[in-house]
Amino acid sequence: MKTSSRLVLGIECTAHTLGVGVARGSMSAPFGKSTRILSNESAKYPSLREGFIPRKLADHHAKHFKEVALRALDKASIKPRDLDAVAYSYGPGLGHSLHVGFVAAKTLCESLGIPLVGVNHALAHAEVGRFFTRMRAPVVAYVSGGNTQILRLGGKPGKRHYQIVGETLDIGAGNMLDLVGRNLSLSPPDAVGVLEAARKGRNLVPLPYSVKGMNMSFSGLLTASQKAVASPPDLCYSVQETAFSMICECAEKALSVYGAKELLLVGGNARNKRLSAMLALAAKEHNARFGAAPLEYCGDNGGMIALAGLFQLSKRIGLRRLPSQRARIDAESVAW
Ligand code: FE2
Repeated sequence: MKTSSRLVLGIECTAHTLGVGVARGSMSAPFGKSTRILSNESAKYPSLREGFIPRKLADHHAKHFKEVALRALDKASIKPRDLDAVAYSYGPGLGHSLHVGFVAAKTLCESLGIPLVGVNHALAHAEVGRFFTRMRAPVVAYVSGGNTQILRLGGKPGKRHYQIVGETLDIGAGNMLDLVGRNLSLSPPDAVGVLEAARKGRNLVPLPYSVKGMNMSFSGLLTASQKAVASPPDLCYSVQETAFSMICECAEKALSVYGAKELLLVGGNARNKRLSAMLALAAKEHNARFGAAPLEYCGDNGGMIALAGLFQLSKRIGLRRLPSQRARIDAESVAW
């Protein structure tokens, strides 16, 4: 007898990571504790000095899709015919990469005769964090390469959605850190290299601090970092402290303005222990509970797309969506 439990394959393909995961949960209570992410496999385009060239990312994802998908199915101990739906990240992201994920997802859906679910990438980041921390109405600091946003989950039950209450007005904090790492020829030449170097930094160099209301700007900080006279460790330390302080100020303002009692950190930069510690302290000062997405689900991954796809399938949201490079989270319903 068919139960209300469903299996959803999720494909992440917005940028440099190809991820495939499988989630299982009931349609009556998909956000419940019985829901599981059964597998979470990936192939990541390497971080190189040249940066990310969209065509090369797409070729990488197309080349590795079959192998990563088979690994995800194998780890979940299921066969393709067991799937009830395929979800893919429809945006925001790089057009070339998004289309590889879309074609893969659509091909699977057509051949298996199952629904296609388009998942908003930012929504998946926020919801995987909320699922594991069991938060109800958090302020979310979403900090990744291409995105830096302060979100608030609000609205009436059944009609909730994420409101963007603050965001970067130019580049994402993660991309800014990647560029600092690249300019300094760190190893690796990205935000991880900056984090490593920052650990040895001791002196705080004055750098532009730009917050307008709950919005931030990081481009001036990037330009100033190229002109600053300081050792690489001091510079990395200063860039991190300045950028993260800006994010903390905006998150604190959101906690205060909305009287929220939960602060959730998600996105690739949630793996940064310094950012996590600063936000945890900010939450404590506002008597709010702090939580972050588990490390495995901080960066781009297929597991979070499978999970959000399962949530959306339960309410028939986002079926047959086409890729969209500029998708926004505030247009998404969180009805589960
Ligand atoms: Fe992401």
